[in-house]
Amino acid sequence: MDLSVKNRIEYETVSLNEAEGAVEILDQTLLPGKVRMVRLRTAREIWEAIYQLRVRGAPAIGVAAAFGIYILARGIDTEDCRIFYEEFRKQKDYLNSARPTAVNLSWALDRMDAVYKKNTGCSVSEIKEKLRQEAVSIKEEDIRVCRKIGEYGLGLLKPGDGILTHCNAGYLAACRYGTATAPIYLGQERGYGFRVFADETRPLLQGARLTAYELSAAGVDVTLICDNMSATVMKKGWVNAVFVGCDRVAANGDTANKIGTSVVAAVAARYGIPFYVCAPTATIDMSMPSGESIPVEQRPAEEVTEMWYKERMAPEGIKVFNPAFDVTDNELVTGIITEYGIAEPPFRESLEEIFRIKKGL
Ligand code: MRU
Repeated sequence: MDLSVKNRIEYETVSLNEAEGAVEILDQTLLPGKVRMVRLRTAREIWEAIYQLRVRGAPAIGVAAAFGIYILARGIDTEDCRIFYEEFRKQKDYLNSARPTAVNLSWALDRMDAVYKKNTGCSVSEIKEKLRQEAVSIKEEDIRVCRKIGEYGLGLLKPGDGILTHCNAGYLAACRYGTATAPIYLGQERGYGFRVFADETRPLLQGARLTAYELSAAGVDVTLICDNMSATVMKKGWVNAVFVGCDRVAANGDTANKIGTSVVAAVAARYGIPFYVCAPTATIDMSMPSGESIPVEQRPAEEVTEMWYKERMAPEGIKVFNPAFDVTDNELVTGIITEYGIAEPPFRESLEEIFRIKKGL
């Protein structure tokens, strides 16, 4: 695909194709070389697309799961609510097992489950319609939430700033704007002229394949760097702030995000550069007291030893440790940018305050 002829990504990351009875996704494993939309109809297809990172990034995973469980619920052929719910729960538990770290997966599925519980007096077909509406609102909310995060984030920046980001917490990881990229896109619209450094993000290269792709397609000045170059660009004074996304934030502000994030945070602290986590409240898990309880996904060794290479780049049989995420200690986090404002240390108190605001208290 020729990026020069496009100034923005024109594809929906994840959408509901009601007529085809499918969740439609942009297959991110093929980017940036190929743009292919894929229709997911069965539980296995939806699960596999999430597990294989065809659809990925915490918010997009949540939306895909919500549309997915709706499509599966739609296909449950019974008018008996009890039988319907038994089958619904089975499918929900199956989808929930696709990836453990991004809390948005269980958060979205639990929201869909709550639709059934709130409407026990309704017929199966009424419940199906309410499930559709809930899934659509989860997607619409994501767009609004990311935009709000963008506004709060932009308030922390000035024209011409250098911003470093890790992995892809962009348009592709959500439904529009992204989280860490939302201030960048809003700044771009307003002529801020940011210079962005995108970490390539080993081993699955979300930074190189996705962040570099979507930001350059939007006309942002983006420079790709290897993961081990962040200290160099920071030491040179090229980075004014780090913005990253997250897969789960614990009640004390410890933050799980793509492996390597905590290294960036430690280096940023060394050079006195603020490190911001962009977090929809859907990604904040107040039931986890600290990052120690966050489940961290382990991925296959082949992602490190051979994926992307023409030939294997490590000895056969070598031991490989391949956690997909790490947990950044809250002391390294300057602020957590949510759709309700920016939480600052101490996070236990400030995050509780964010949820009070959310509840309108
Ligand atoms: O394994 P991935 O590609 O799903 O990991 C994605 C990330 O770590 C993102 O930074 C995170 O989900 C936030 S996306 C707005």
